[in-house]
Amino acid sequence: MNAAYKPRVDVNSLLRLDEGLVHADVYASPEVFDLEMEKLFHRGWVYVGHESEIPKRGDYILRWIGTHSVIMNRDDAGKLHLFLNRCRHRAVTVCQNEQGNAPRFNCDYHGWSYRNSGELVGIPLREGAYGPDFRMEDFPLVSPRMEVYRGFVWGNLVADGTSLMDHLGEGGKRSIDLFCDASPEGEVVLQQGFLRGVIYANWKFQGGDGYHPPIAHQANFMYYRGKRQGNDRNPIAVNGTMEEGFLSRDLGNGHCALDFRAVSKDKLGDAPWAKKYREDMHRVYGKERAEFLIRTGGNPHAVLMPNLHLVNTSDLRVIRPIAVNHFELYFYCAFLKGVPDELNEMRLRDVEARTGPAGCINPDDVEMFERNQLGMQQAVNPWKYMARGIVRERIDDDLLTPEPYRRHKTVVGHLSDEVTQRAQLRWWAERLSQP
Ligand code: FES
Ligand SMILES: [Fe+2]
Repeated sequence: MNAAYKPRVDVNSLLRLDEGLVHADVYASPEVFDLEMEKLFHRGWVYVGHESEIPKRGDYILRWIGTHSVIMNRDDAGKLHLFLNRCRHRAVTVCQNEQGNAPRFNCDYHGWSYRNSGELVGIPLREGAYGPDFRMEDFPLVSPRMEVYRGFVWGNLVADGTSLMDHLGEGGKRSIDLFCDASPEGEVVLQQGFLRGVIYANWKFQGGDGYHPPIAHQANFMYYRGKRQGNDRNPIAVNGTMEEGFLSRDLGNGHCALDFRAVSKDKLGDAPWAKKYREDMHRVYGKERAEFLIRTGGNPHAVLMPNLHLVNTSDLRVIRPIAVNHFELYFYCAFLKGVPDELNEMRLRDVEARTGPAGCINPDDVEMFERNQLGMQQAVNPWKYMARGIVRERIDDDLLTPEPYRRHKTVVGHLSDEVTQRAQLRWWAERLSQP
């Protein structure tokens, strides 16, 4: 760290992780939030969208990199772009719709217009207004740095620096691989739209907590147990051991996972479409790998900092922080390419059952996060206690998992331990302390 650099907030004073103590300001201070925007979202890799959301030439979607509205689109030649949604004249947004298809982006204020490949091509009343050195080609829409991994598109507002692979690391990359490899073609498709929820709590509450499900989601678990008539109890509620594979895992770089891949059960059944899927998977990946992918449903149950969650077999969730006590959560169902329709339909019903207004899981979480935010606003004894499992953390070789999905030499604790939160916060403090 640059010795002369003085962060506005001493983030390290807000964490006493060796004792498992985390100060409420981590979740409640507007100054901390501003620093997060600057250091995590405006100076690092942020997930923007998936290539399959814009399949045709001219397609676009509107998304966020921190506080920046960005357009992800394809130009007339089909090339992928990422642009700041900001006119080069006086910085008015040039795109207002969340998705669509357009050959140009026009600014409604004074009419400057841009091709879908970014070039400025129109300025009303231009003659005589600017000097002889003025060149239209000097004023294209601004393109942040962009990298794509397996169809997942990330943006970075800093022109050079770490690569996406540096950010994802082995743990992040392997999580995405597992998620995509549940398709025999190795691709997921996001074309089912999304559900979006507004939550009045801090964005870091979302995800990676393996302690709460049997308690906070008890009603949902009872319902499923009833449906299964007690024959197939929910594995999380069974409260298995670390040795069996009920783990929480620090994947490095702030990424983490609830890792119950080793204890996932094959729920595919033996309908003709299921047999066909199994055969296709065996043919592409070989028997051992295919059976693992089928059993886990390709579920890494991973939280990739700062804003992409790949959880459960089919949920892709994206976080958009808005203020210290306010964030949006986008829920997508990732369809698998090249599989029978019945399997994708099952995935869609599964996401619907958990998320959205009629879902059984997400409303429980929202309630807990909003109650937690109230707790964070109380200044008497501002420390929350996240020491669960420090005494049993250990390095693990992940031998219950076949290659190439193994997460070598990562720190694990029991599924219910707070390994995941501590992993996120260690990375968070390190990034927020940088110049
Ligand atoms: S601000 Fe866009 S044309 Fe003036
Ligand atoms: Fe939950």
